[in-house]
Parts: sequence; C-alpha cells; structure tokens
Amino acid sequence: MPMASPIKYPPAEEGSDVLLRLREDYEQAVLDLFDTDEEARGVRPALKVVGHTSNFLDNLRLPVHRWFRYSAGFSAEWVKWLLAERKGRELRVLDPFVGSGTTCLACDEMGVESYGLEAHPFVHRVASAKLSYTSDAERLLAKAESAFRFAREAQAANDYPDLIQKCFGPETLDFLDRFRQAVEKEQDGTREAELLWVALVSALRVASEAGTAPWQYVLPGRRKTSPPSPEAALHKAIQMIAADIRFMARRAKPLAKLRIDDARKCATVPDVWATLVITSPPYANNYDYADATRLEMVFMGEIRGWGDLQDTVRKHLVRACSQHVPPKSVNLDEVLASPELAPIRNEIVPVCRELSSIRLERGGKKTYNNMIACYFLDLAQTWQALRRVCASPCDVCFVIGDSAPYGVYVPVVAWFGKLARAAGFESWTFTKLRDRNIKWKNRKHRVPLCEGHLWVHG
Ligand SMILES: C[S@@+](CC[C@H](N)C(=O)[O-])C[C@H]1O[C@@H](n2cnc3c(N)ncnc32)[C@H](O)[C@@H]1O
Repeated sequence: MPMASPIKYPPAEEGSDVLLRLREDYEQAVLDLFDTDEEARGVRPALKVVGHTSNFLDNLRLPVHRWFRYSAGFSAEWVKWLLAERKGRELRVLDPFVGSGTTCLACDEMGVESYGLEAHPFVHRVASAKLSYTSDAERLLAKAESAFRFAREAQAANDYPDLIQKCFGPETLDFLDRFRQAVEKEQDGTREAELLWVALVSALRVASEAGTAPWQYVLPGRRKTSPPSPEAALHKAIQMIAADIRFMARRAKPLAKLRIDDARKCATVPDVWATLVITSPPYANNYDYADATRLEMVFMGEIRGWGDLQDTVRKHLVRACSQHVPPKSVNLDEVLASPELAPIRNEIVPVCRELSSIRLERGGKKTYNNMIACYFLDLAQTWQALRRVCASPCDVCFVIGDSAPYGVYVPVVAWFGKLARAAGFESWTFTKLRDRNIKWKNRKHRVPLCEGHLWVHG
C-alpha cells in the first residue's frame, strides 16, 4: 500500500494583539447583555472562548452560531480576526460553501458586506434563520407563546418513520408533533416565524432520548440518562434565541446576502465582486452533508428516510462522498478526460486507477475512484467560477485537509493550488493547523494527514 507522506507545511501562527482585543470586546459584550438581563442569564454562552484556529465546537459557545450544531470547519472568531487584520482595505467577502452561515454572521458583526452561497436547502434555511437576528425578540416570544397554546390543544399524528420512533419516546414525540403543527400554523412569512422554526429544529437532538451523535448519526441503541422534556428543551431554545438576537442587534448590521446557489457556478454573485474569499469546502473524506440533517428533515416531513436524500439534497452538492457516486452513475474515463482536470491529469489518473483496483479487494467496495475524480472536477469548476467573481487582486482562503481513501494519498492542497493557478490565480501557500490520522490505534490506514489554510492570491 502506498505511503506517500504529505509535504511538510509550515504551521499557522497563533495569537496576536488584534485577536486579543477581539476576545476582550466579545467577552465584555456578553457580560453587558447576558449578565444584566435577568432572563438572559440562564442562557449565557460559556465565556472561555476560542483560539482563532479552532473549529466548529467553539461556535457553539457564540450567540446565534450556537443555534444549530453543524460541521462548520472554522470559528466565527477566526473570521472576525481575518477581517480585523485587513481593516481599512476594501473588503467584500464571499463564502461559496457558507453552510450554517458562520462567515456571513461574522461579516455582519464586523460591518463588512458578504455573499454566502449554500446548495443544501435545509442548511440554507438554517443559515437564513440565523441571519434573521434583526427580528423583534418580543414578537418572537409572543409567537412562541401562541405556539405553546396551540400545541396544548392539538391532536398529535403519529405516522413517523422508524428513525423518529427510535429517537423519541411516545410522549415526547406526541408533544413535539403538536408543537411542529403549531410552528407550521405560525408560518406567516415573518422573520419571527423562521426563528420559531429554527427553535424547534434546534431542540430536536436535545430532547431526543436516543443517543444523537454530534454529526449526522443517530444511535438508537444508546439511551440518554435524563434528557430534558420537549417543553423544557423548546423553552430553552426560544429563550436562547431571544437573548441572542438582542445581543446581535446591538452589534451587527444586516449586510449579508445569503443565496441558495451552487459554488461551481456562483451564478448569483456579480462579476469581479469579491476581494476576500473565506470558506471551508467539503473535504474529500466521504462525509455526507445530505445525511447530516437526516433526523431533522425526517421529523419535519421533508423526507421519509435515507433513500430520499439523493433527490432532495445530494444531487445539488459537490460530490465528496461515495454514496453520491455509485458504480454505474459515473463514467470515470469521461470525468478524468474533462478539460478542467488537465492541470492535474497526470497525477489524478493513476490515483483513480489504483482506487479502482483496490476497491475490488475490499468488502465495502466503496467508489472512492469515482468520488475523487468527481470531487476534483467539481472543485476545478469552483475555482473557475471564483476567478470570475473575484476582483484582481483577491485573497482566497480555503480551510482544507488532504485525504487518503483506502490508504491512497490524495494531495488535495497541491492539486487545489494547481487548479487555482490554471483558473487564473497567481500563487498559493499553505499553513498547517493540525495533523490528522496520527493518533488513533484503530484507524483505517496509516497515512499521516493534515488540515490547514490554503491561501490563494491574485
Ligand atoms: C464544511 S461545510 C461549510 C460549513 C460552514 N463554514 C458553516 O459555517 O457552517 C461545507 C458546505 O458546503 C455545502 N455545499 C456542498 N456542495 C455545495 C455546492 N455545490 N454549492 C454550495 N454549497 C455546497 C455543504 O452543504 C456544506 O454545508
């Protein structure tokens, strides 16, 4: 098995005065609001904040960002730090894979214009609800009250699929269903209605009696010891949202433009618009973003189960998981012959060929051969779209990691550098944040990997 080791990249530097000032400013703002307001105190975010290189977990400590747990790729504080460092320059920020909206929220907080594109309809709705922080907290609370009243009287339906029956006991599900009906009834096109929707969505994993892993997977075999009642989880979510929007309204300007759009085209972004791109694209690591929201989408009646994810979600996304590219759905030779892959063809063809033969020896027979080819074709198109919408010069930062499906090393960073240059950018550098796949005993392969910032300029 090949054991190519990644290029030794320089590590990213931690800490700076700007970052320190940002933290102090944030901590003061939290104290100002959450400690003076009696009701907000119970939902005050934890104050031990963030290093600027950290990942999504830290966002769960930040107002608004904490409403929905999602694989964000980076912390909002790091985005603010990048913006603060560039103060005084002409800043127009684009995140073509905006997910749950971290970049756009951070830009709003810093008074910087931004575009955020997201192709996953459910995640786009979550981001859009988070960007509804300009709503009125009192109107939200009144709407929530009316929803609780309706839920008390409503008749629960119970034709939920198995997954939902495994996650919630009958009484919990009964209440959640009545509240879901109430949320539907409250939908009147207002921002407060969207906030009520996100409160329900955000309370689901909290109220689940089965283990709900941080990511997509639900662990029906594992029971939680004492989850809160659904009423308590919903009350807490609503209180948190009300307090957070008061916090944001004092600090942020609603400048962000969130679009449901495909990063491979960036069709909704004007030519030559962006001066800075900050993003974390899907990694070539088989993570299925469609599956990430399966529990919530099934509960809300948007899909019946896993089988519906391809048509409702996956088909819109870049192809970064083997579930997306089953054997007969892709003509590998055709994909590898695409003109967009010319800059890396000599390297990607042998990698895909090797994956084609290894998969036949493995029980799972995962189609990593197709996945890698399609992933780089999709990202090559993204680099071309970015060249159109970026000004010259522009700085582009991808938070990205390399990968090694079936132990075959894929030099993601170097290939992205080549694709970016072929699309018309001038140069690239990479700083490493952390090593991956070096610690665990039961890892699937022993190829050392890393994750960091790919900066592209020009
Ligand atoms: C690593 S996540 C980004 C998370 C984000 N930084 C946040 O704050 O939540 C990558 C995102 O890219 C989205 N995505 C995948 N393919 C896309 C495409 N073709 N166009 C736009 N977004 C896409 C996925 O749905 C996912 O939300």
